[in-house]
Amino acid sequence: MQITDQEFYRIVRYVKAHYGINLEQKRVLICGRLENYLVRNGYNSYDEYMNLVENNAGSNEAVNLINVLTTNHTYFMREFVHMEFLRDVILPELKKKEAGSKDLRIWSAASSTGEEPYTIAMILADFFGLEHNQWDTKVLATDLSTRVLQHAMRGRYLKEQIDPLPPNWKRRFFSQISAEEFEVKPELKEQVIFRQFNLMNPLPLKRKLHVVFLRNVMIYFEDQTKMELVERIYDFMEPGGYLMIGTTESLDKTRFRYVRPSIYRKL
Ligand SMILES: C[S@@+](CC[C@H](N)C(=O)[O-])C[C@H]1O[C@@H](n2cnc3c(N)ncnc32)[C@H](O)[C@@H]1O
Repeated sequence: MQITDQEFYRIVRYVKAHYGINLEQKRVLICGRLENYLVRNGYNSYDEYMNLVENNAGSNEAVNLINVLTTNHTYFMREFVHMEFLRDVILPELKKKEAGSKDLRIWSAASSTGEEPYTIAMILADFFGLEHNQWDTKVLATDLSTRVLQHAMRGRYLKEQIDPLPPNWKRRFFSQISAEEFEVKPELKEQVIFRQFNLMNPLPLKRKLHVVFLRNVMIYFEDQTKMELVERIYDFMEPGGYLMIGTTESLDKTRFRYVRPSIYRKL
């Protein structure tokens, strides 16, 4: 099925306006990922499909478009420098500061298939040890794509996906369910709350956050979108709160203070 220029830009405009994702340079990606789906589902053109998407915001087709077009690549132990910083700097600080409330609010804001928030939860379990049951450290994990969230909630990963984890974490937090597959144990699943959320929408938070992981998602956004998002997050953070972005990303013109590459702080 051929895509016309007009159809291509219609998709680009729609995805940018609703989700902030800029696909202007991604014609091959759009066609590669959508064409099969359209053919299989009996559509005759991209326009026919987009007519349905645009006229039914919450429809299956609108949800499917984003499930197909987002890039969800992630893996356990990715950019572990942030996890070390969490363990060695942030958590000791917060443990003192929040000793009264014993409530930590950590958000994995583009959590994809769950590797990132589960890793944060494992760091938290390790750090608090026997005291963990006295603290509320549940991690909020959100993503735009319902497909990756379902995967994350199920918590099943192939042997080679959990291979990079330390052996004691594998034993403690995963059960082997077949020769090839492992599943996150219920105790760890309980520590992560998965929700669908579009970062372009007003933040759905009641209480301010101590730590935000916003890693490897802003690469798809334009500068203005990125800046506005970061500033909205700033307003939802506790004073002293930390923001982690991808190690290949950077921020300029922000109220956040630079701490070290890819780590920022609200002072
Ligand atoms: C490459 S993954 C990053 C996963 C993880 N943070 C990491 O660093 O490994 C990017 C994720 O951002 C999500 N995403 C893209 N645009 C979004 C938006 N507007 N709101 C929420 N999530 C979005 C995608 O669905 C995708 O799962």
